[in-house]
Amino acid sequence: MSNKVLTTSNGNPVDNDQTSLTAGVWGPVLMQDFHLIDKLAHFDRERIPERVVHAKGAGAHGEFVVTHDISHLTKAKFLNKVGKKTPMFARFSTVGGERGSADTARDPRGFALKFYTEEGNLDVVGNNTPVFFIRDPSKFPDFIHTQKRNPRTNLHDKNAVWDFFSLVPESLHQVTILYSNHGTPDGHRHMHGFGSHTFKLVDDKGKWKYFKWHFKTQQGSKNLKPAKAAELEGTNPDYSTNDLFQSIENGDYPTWDVCIQVMDAEDAKKYRWNVLDVTKVWPHKDYPLQPVGKFTLNRNPENYFAEVEQAAFSPSHMVPGIDTSADRMLQGRLFSYPDTHRHRLGVNYKQIPINQPQCPVNNYQRDGFMTVNGGSGRAPNYGPNSQNGPEQNNLIGSTFAPEEVEGLIGRFSFELTDDDFVQPGNLYRLMTEEDKNDLCENIAGDMETVDDEIIQRQLAHFERADPDYRRRVEAALKKVKG
Ligand code: HEM
Repeated sequence: MSNKVLTTSNGNPVDNDQTSLTAGVWGPVLMQDFHLIDKLAHFDRERIPERVVHAKGAGAHGEFVVTHDISHLTKAKFLNKVGKKTPMFARFSTVGGERGSADTARDPRGFALKFYTEEGNLDVVGNNTPVFFIRDPSKFPDFIHTQKRNPRTNLHDKNAVWDFFSLVPESLHQVTILYSNHGTPDGHRHMHGFGSHTFKLVDDKGKWKYFKWHFKTQQGSKNLKPAKAAELEGTNPDYSTNDLFQSIENGDYPTWDVCIQVMDAEDAKKYRWNVLDVTKVWPHKDYPLQPVGKFTLNRNPENYFAEVEQAAFSPSHMVPGIDTSADRMLQGRLFSYPDTHRHRLGVNYKQIPINQPQCPVNNYQRDGFMTVNGGSGRAPNYGPNSQNGPEQNNLIGSTFAPEEVEGLIGRFSFELTDDDFVQPGNLYRLMTEEDKNDLCENIAGDMETVDDEIIQRQLAHFERADPDYRRRVEAALKKVKG
């Protein structure tokens, strides 16, 4: 017998939770059964919209610790002392599938981190790949539509996938990573993470440098072979969710080293690659990884919905000392995430405990659906005021890196150039024979039902990256198509 009395959502004791109130033994149910009506009505509203992308995910709490001093590069307080610890939360995800879809599907993996710093939350919302498929945010909804279901058949549509890739060849670098076995990592613990975009580190004098985030798994990078990934899709669709949860439950806490690549703004102007193009990497031989710290995931959520489903990450959640760059994709994302959170979780999503900063929040935002923080009580709701309300700190450039910008307003498209084929080609040439074969077989398998016109267009892109890339995909296609 439990020592807790069941109550209604209103806190009233419940005499019977198993039998509805009826008029007579076989008579209809009565409206006055508040508990029944409330129970059904609440159940009817249990689902919130799933994330429009990255719907299937797993998360865990952890801790970040600084191991190397980079206070000469950034004034970010959470990085200002070796040994300093910051609580954090991580969520890993697939991109295209629905909330119930399989963990081992071929897809990039989301790698989202929330650091609860003394200067508010810093979110790094990256992937397990250092690059992305496109470099302009206007292409994102179209790209995602090709990864989702066909509007007529509600089936996955490989023709749409390869039609888009072949018409947007800037995607080739990410396509080459995705169809390698990195597209099917062996669980969330065994993959590296990347902030992918170029950001800025800003020091206390307002001087800044470009940088990129890297998170190196200490469990070793491990991928699944295609046959194993396909088998797990059927037999154990929650493979990665379970692996992360069980390892933490067993005290085997996964850890990642946190590193950065740093580049002077002046160097960026002369560099071989456009640092504002998220389809390109900075080769490590040019800009080696510098260690900063490490994070460890050491606590499973108590409640999946409250902590993982309601987690709201955004690249625009930034602390002083870390700033955005003019990367167009990143700029598009700065808008899109808080916008989708307002839709998915409501305007007060930052009041949900998992999203609440763990430092004081003082401002004049008030009210709206689901205000649960007391609305700042009787404090004034306007500023400036003469009632000791919070005031701006007047530190010029404290929340952004001063940067000179000039030019005409216009729609300046990135031209497709041979540059777009060099990095995918280099990546291909770096692969072992076995990896090359897996890559080309994975591509051919995916293209089996694709129209020939689209295949021919895509083969020309493989050829531009490396003639052997095309030859191998063609050979693999012959095998699957007969
Ligand atoms: C999730 C938009 C590019 C990584 C999302 C969500 C949206 C979105 C609307 C759902 C968020 C939610 O419901 O909480 C966009 C747009 C992009 C873009 C408009 C380009 C213009 C990228 C890129 C990366 C990325 C380049 C990685 C480098 C993620 C991750 C999540 C996510 C990790 C899941 C966050 C979580 O775990 O809650 N994106 N995205 N996205 N996106 Fe993007």
